[in-house]
Amino acid sequence: MFGLFKKKKKKIVETINKPIEDFSGIEELISHIKNETGIDFFNKKEIIKNKLIMFCKKRDIYSFKELMSSMKQNFSLRQEAIDYLTVNETYFFRETPQIEDMIKKAKKLGFKAEILCAPSSSGDEPYTIAIMMLEAGFKPMDFHIIGIDISETVIKKAKTAIYNERNLHRTSEELKQRYFYDDNNQYILKEIVKNQVSFRCINIFDKTLENLRKFDFIFSRNMMIYFDQETKIKAKDILQNLLKRPEESIYFGHADMVG
Ligand SMILES: C[S@@+](CC[C@H](N)C(=O)[O-])C[C@H]1O[C@@H](n2cnc3c(N)ncnc32)[C@H](O)[C@@H]1O
Repeated sequence: MFGLFKKKKKKIVETINKPIEDFSGIEELISHIKNETGIDFFNKKEIIKNKLIMFCKKRDIYSFKELMSSMKQNFSLRQEAIDYLTVNETYFFRETPQIEDMIKKAKKLGFKAEILCAPSSSGDEPYTIAIMMLEAGFKPMDFHIIGIDISETVIKKAKTAIYNERNLHRTSEELKQRYFYDDNNQYILKEIVKNQVSFRCINIFDKTLENLRKFDFIFSRNMMIYFDQETKIKAKDILQNLLKRPEESIYFGHADMVG
């Protein structure tokens, strides 16, 4: 009885001390996210507002203003918000004709092919490229792939390289057996593929991207669908500058450059 009274009293005190919630100003927050990542949430304002309110409530943040100023000071909170908002959908052997086209061109290079996959999400795409190149007869020393993504969570998953059936629903049984260890429906990628790809958590609009190196081929698929037209052009120019030779290819997803 006494315990119950104490609990009620604590709850009343907590309620009195709780700052007033004010989740107005979503436009300013969306603009801030767009400046940081390129991702344009203006046409999904209501969905994003509700998602961000949930994000704030879980962290005892009482307004978008507070969230924005905390994100500016606290790098890990900023990263958590980006991880929470980005759409990381990907799988092995997604849209392979472009990879086949790149392989044909890489065969003619006559030197080690350096490939950028931006964004890589959890690694499914760059590892698919590596598998297809090994299958096409390339030796491990003939190529290297760098995968980058703005989300730390997916980069960690890419480095771990353990996948489930959903990631591999387009992968043949033969290739699953050749390149993965099956551990109770978890597929562990073999070193021969893993060693061909390295990963970095980088925003494509970050200056650090320029320090990576130049590439023979670039894959940038299914990211720009979330950018507005101006940002798409900016991203395309950044990637173009990362090519060793201007005539080499950048492969975009089918919907990326629409608009
Ligand atoms: C839908 S996935 C596409 C992954 C893969 N390219 C594919 O086609 O399967 C989009 C990825 O873009 C990443 N992304 C969004 N904005 C980015 C930015 N500014 N810099 C780097 N990566 C970004 C997200 O974190 C997400 O993992």
